[in-house]
Amino acid sequence: QKTEALAAIAAAETLETLDSQRVAALGKKGWVSLALKTLGQMSPEERQQAAPAIQAVRAEIADAIEARKAALESAALEAQLASEKLDLTLPAPEAPRGTVHPVSQVMDELAEIFADLGFAVATGPEIEDDWHNFTALNMDENHPARAMHDTFYFPDRDAEGRQMLLRTHTSPVQIRSMKEQGAPIRIIAPGRVYRSDSDATHTPMFHQVEGLVIDRDIHLGHLKWTLETFLKAYFERDDIVLRLRPSYFPFTEPSVEVDVGYVNEGGRRVVGGSGDDEGHEWMELLGSGMVNRRVIEMAGLDPDQWQGFAFGVGVDRLAMLKYGMSDLRAFFDGDVRWLQHYGFSP
Ligand code: PHE
Repeated sequence: QKTEALAAIAAAETLETLDSQRVAALGKKGWVSLALKTLGQMSPEERQQAAPAIQAVRAEIADAIEARKAALESAALEAQLASEKLDLTLPAPEAPRGTVHPVSQVMDELAEIFADLGFAVATGPEIEDDWHNFTALNMDENHPARAMHDTFYFPDRDAEGRQMLLRTHTSPVQIRSMKEQGAPIRIIAPGRVYRSDSDATHTPMFHQVEGLVIDRDIHLGHLKWTLETFLKAYFERDDIVLRLRPSYFPFTEPSVEVDVGYVNEGGRRVVGGSGDDEGHEWMELLGSGMVNRRVIEMAGLDPDQWQGFAFGVGVDRLAMLKYGMSDLRAFFDGDVRWLQHYGFSP
């Protein structure tokens, strides 16, 4: 019986069959256990003879089971390791990668262009109070221009009683800069702005770059030269044509709206051209003007000593013009294929 059992143990292919061999031999009703029980009925002499032999068989069987168990377990581990093996020399699958967003790219470009003209970059909060966003920009509570801004207001006033809102333009940074650093000033302020508006050319969040120059004897000629110089650098061509139209903003006087000339090349708007007006179409690009003396005063400077100009340009629109994009909403979909289509690849 022992030889048979040892053979079966050695042949066990799984831990389950091995265990059934263990039960058959060493279990309560196993043959080894039953043999041990017979010792009770023996005379002491018989017992002294038989006991060591049975104990030896028991130990031999137990050892064999242990050994087989260890062998099966290590084989199982080997098999698992083999199946989980990784070949680290295989080429990795291509992971989709993003790029710098056109809006960030344009804001970086503008910061660089204006840095060459001596402008520093300033920032202000996107959550503004109505004093900085409107009142200090010469739009008091009843000013009709306030209604044109489609403002996102916070429902409750803050602890200091201020009416908070999402800034509708970057112009409040003009006020903050004048109050914080005094004159002279030469800054641009890029950032997000918000208006409750949405269609193919309007998104509720969009981007502007504000420009502000405050110094002595600043006049409209400085504004025009600065805009021309910046647009030539931005579009990388010398034949930029601008049209300055009289306009109205409460915070500039006089106010000037600036259009840029473009030609339609197969549905794509290409800025610049021959220089003569023929064949040009105009696209409104930015608002600007000489900073209203009331604004300079409200920001704590003496308007008899300091003058300046300001402008605000839509970054998304600048990006669309340069890269030929047509739907503003796609800017905020986060689709890598869209980026690649317009030549933004990692
Ligand atoms: N803040 C104006 C707008 O968002 C643009 C502007 C800026 C006009 C500075 C004049 C001067 O429409």
